[in-house]
Amino acid sequence: MSDSATDNGDGTRQGSGFPPGDGTRAVRAGLPEPVKHEPTLPGPVFAAHFHLPGEATGPYTYGRDENPTWTLLERAIGELEAPGRDGVETLVFASGMAAISSVLFSQLRAGDAVVLPSDGYQVFPLVRAQLEAYGVEVRTAPTGGDAQLQVLDGAKLLWIETPSNPGLDVCDVRRLAEAAHAQGTLVAVDNTLATPLGQRPLDLGADFSVASGTKQLTGHGDILLGYVTGRDTEAMAAVRRWRKIVGAIPGPMEAWLAHRSIATLQLRVDRQNATALILAQALRERPEVTGLRHPGLPDDPSHKIASQQMRRYGCVISFTLPTRARADRFLEALRLVDDATSFGGVRSTAERRGRWGGDAVPEGFIRLSVGAEDPEDLVADVLRALDESAD
Ligand SMILES: Cc1ncc(COP(=O)(O)O)c(C=O)c1O
Repeated sequence: MSDSATDNGDGTRQGSGFPPGDGTRAVRAGLPEPVKHEPTLPGPVFAAHFHLPGEATGPYTYGRDENPTWTLLERAIGELEAPGRDGVETLVFASGMAAISSVLFSQLRAGDAVVLPSDGYQVFPLVRAQLEAYGVEVRTAPTGGDAQLQVLDGAKLLWIETPSNPGLDVCDVRRLAEAAHAQGTLVAVDNTLATPLGQRPLDLGADFSVASGTKQLTGHGDILLGYVTGRDTEAMAAVRRWRKIVGAIPGPMEAWLAHRSIATLQLRVDRQNATALILAQALRERPEVTGLRHPGLPDDPSHKIASQQMRRYGCVISFTLPTRARADRFLEALRLVDDATSFGGVRSTAERRGRWGGDAVPEGFIRLSVGAEDPEDLVADVLRALDESAD
């Protein structure tokens, strides 16, 4: 993994404290300067409008445009997505889809071409149909193998999701961004699965890092949130305008909960991701498990590129059981893993992805999101459920 930290191998780091480590950055991200008698993280500001005598100037005028609780959260996410970079802006949204749509629909016009993943998040076919209805030419390419290069010619925007959900394929962001920029194409990366502690798309050359904050970023399965971090001032102005027009804004309570949750991001990510690798290694020994994927497994098809551009490999693993019935029995036998969609939370979840009908996966395909349980408990539960679900 390409991590600049000098790791002692026992969970501690060497160094002067500068640049600070991920845990330090996460607990302090976006905090205001301390003010006597004020809380460390000011509480949520519930306001539809703000006092505004005289000229209608910012920063806070109307609650659909700006909110002080968003400002602190946007600063926090920006510090994690693009530490030390000037001119980068972050905008928060009501959900990951609101953030994704804000980039696509603010940047693309009738007659433009866009490249989307053919194996990305399952709402993309709906997005595709909407873009086509507006006269945008949509081309698709699978995530693995940098196949996007074949369909890039003349596109206005390249959209990549790496690692992809649920297949966990990875593409070479640096290589794709270089090729895209050589012909004036903007690049957006869905950074949901990796989180900003796992991957920093702007450092790899992307123009936008876009994510669902519903998943591991906030990690408790209790809020929906999205964000866009971008470095192109004009493009981000259009994204901001889109948020104002559509009004897909997070509530102050959600924004505050998200900020509070980011303080434990490094702890959660390191625990969950380490257990995901342990579980993947245990599953590898099982004859009924095929198609096992996790970018952290040294022999995974994604591992080589992932190790060059990711600092952590995520908490999601995927694999296939022989039949749909076997997969259903397995899910039912699990005690520490909830049968639920979504991923990234502190409580493990798993689902038979084929039940939605939107992903090109086998009937027995399972996506499992590893939580913060003790690794030995979780591995024992999964292996027991495999035994109990056998024919
Ligand atoms: C990779 C990815 N991007 C975006 C989204 C959409 O996020 P949200 O559900 O917060 O709208 C999801 C949701 O599962 C996702 O997995």
